[in-house]
Amino acid sequence: MKKFITSMVLALAMAVPAVGFASEVIKVEKANIDLHNKQSLQRGAKYFVNYCMGCHSLSMSRYNRVATDLGLTPEQVQKNLIFTRTDGELAKVGELMKNGMTAKYGAEAFGNAPPDLSLEGRLRGADWIYTFLKSFYKDPTRPLGVNNTLFANVGMPHILWELQGMQELQHAEAPAEGAHAAANAHAEPKLVLSQPGKLSPTEYDRMVLDITNFLVYVSEPGKLHRQAVGIWVVLFLLIFIVVAYFLKKEYWKDVH
Ligand code: HEC
Repeated sequence: MKKFITSMVLALAMAVPAVGFASEVIKVEKANIDLHNKQSLQRGAKYFVNYCMGCHSLSMSRYNRVATDLGLTPEQVQKNLIFTRTDGELAKVGELMKNGMTAKYGAEAFGNAPPDLSLEGRLRGADWIYTFLKSFYKDPTRPLGVNNTLFANVGMPHILWELQGMQELQHAEAPAEGAHAAANAHAEPKLVLSQPGKLSPTEYDRMVLDITNFLVYVSEPGKLHRQAVGIWVVLFLLIFIVVAYFLKKEYWKDVH
């Protein structure tokens, strides 16, 4: 038993550093998501099914739940959100948001299978997802020609490159310009947009923010409802404290 405990402690100690994410060249950016912003969530859902769902499923969400939470009618969902087929038929609004990508095919095609993103919002958090989608850069040494500063040697292609354009990683030794040259000499590597895309950087940021917002919502669809109920529960408890106090006074008044 003692041996077992020692080996468990050792295993844990070894696992802890492995859990930490790869060293980040670029700092994680703050994503100011707003789960109350239905328009942003609707746009995020549309972008997700159009650009991401070919590879990533949301196997813990159903289309009709998303529709109800985001204020969409079943018709709108059928028309705008459903493109995946199971057994040759378009998915129905009551179905789970799955796709046809098998883990085996994903692993063969990309090295690593695209993971299900149902809980990604809770696993990585909004800031990480937002920064990840903004951190792809050109890297001819990689099989797909791109890499990611936040997720080194990522298997995912830069799906949104036509919209964002292509970034390059500029190292500190790259020629710095102007009076700040000396100050820049010790600067950290940074991402520079070398080939503009169809969207301006501001538009691209908004798009990525919408997708992030949607993924965070999906990872905990009941959050807003829970918070709304929570306020009433706390209010009830506050009022009840007063009632309980006077009740206590009334019951005990003859005892002393
Ligand atoms: C062509 C297939 C493909 C498409 C389309 C795609 N991805 Fe990926 N994605 C991948 C693969 C493969 C990985 C796994 C990378 C790895 O582990 O090296 C991945 C990983 C990720 C991760 C990191 C998962 C983690 O925590 O390890 C996130 C987040 C992500 N994708 C989001 C998106 C979003 C958002 C979109 C749509 C804008 C998208 N992906 C579109 C293939 C794809």
